[in-house]
Amino acid sequence: MGRLRERGPRRPRSRRHHLSSLATPLQPDQQPGRWDGHVAVYELVFEPLTNTLAREAIEALQVGPGMRLLDVGAGAGGAALMAAGLGATVTAVDASPSMARRIEERATSEGVPVAARPMDGAALKFPNGSFDAALSVFGIILFPDPAGALREIGRVLVPGGRVAIVTWTEPHRYELVGRLLAAISTAGTPSPPPAVPPAQLRFREAAEFRALFDRAGFEVERITRSEKALRAPSARWLADRLEFAPGIGDMLAGQGERLPAVRRRFVEDLERDQGMGEIALGAIAFIGLAAAGSATR
Ligand SMILES: C[S@@+](CC[C@H](N)C(=O)[O-])C[C@H]1O[C@@H](n2cnc3c(N)ncnc32)[C@H](O)[C@@H]1O
Repeated sequence: MGRLRERGPRRPRSRRHHLSSLATPLQPDQQPGRWDGHVAVYELVFEPLTNTLAREAIEALQVGPGMRLLDVGAGAGGAALMAAGLGATVTAVDASPSMARRIEERATSEGVPVAARPMDGAALKFPNGSFDAALSVFGIILFPDPAGALREIGRVLVPGGRVAIVTWTEPHRYELVGRLLAAISTAGTPSPPPAVPPAQLRFREAAEFRALFDRAGFEVERITRSEKALRAPSARWLADRLEFAPGIGDMLAGQGERLPAVRRRFVEDLERDQGMGEIALGAIAFIGLAAAGSATR
């Protein structure tokens, strides 16, 4: 403290000012309220892809009748509904009120037992040991403190309860963004790469992903690499529905009056490579399966 004072004029005007200027602002996808405006398009365009990975996570957890399962950052409810269809009693948590409402609607219309709760996944309002297993598909990996959120999951699991976490890897092979950036670079206004990489890429290396479980007191059973594809009826159909999440929505909005040209270019390139009919864009994820150790409580 004394040494800081000695620096006199170079000291920031106030400590509060100093700290706030260091804080990393939350990215659009990290702000649950921003997801409220993307529920229907997310469910239509992107959930079919995340469901293919959720299915693997559900299999890894051996979800079945009688299991009490928690889904954190559940989105529109794809994984939760699938697990409930297998006989589990599912609690789905999402901090976007509109997402939570949509889960409720779908569970009612499908007649499956899912309790949807609008709630911060980093501060679960459940007693210790409430669940047999948990999953989070591209959920806690977005949170400002993913290890804290995973510890919180460990707290509400029974001792030895297992969790499956899904995260992106090999972003250079995430074809949707690759093609979008290519279309922007030829028909739009490219922006410099962000100073901080997207939050959802923090665990793209297996070692970092493993360390997340370690920090939260879980014992990793296995990390599986899974290659999937985002499928759409046509390039045009997808180009008209690219705003399925806050981050990609902001990126496109930033193109201003060049946006129609960017969409056109995206479609032309994709039709040239994959034709006028159904298209498939590759994406690769890790599924981490781990058991709650004694350190999680
Ligand atoms: C990429 S979506 C994933 C949705 C779903 N799990 C899936 O795989 O399709 C991320 C979700 O996390 C939710 N989310 C973000 N921060 C959250 C938080 N702190 N607590 C609970 N949910 C959060 C968002 O509202 C959004 O629905």
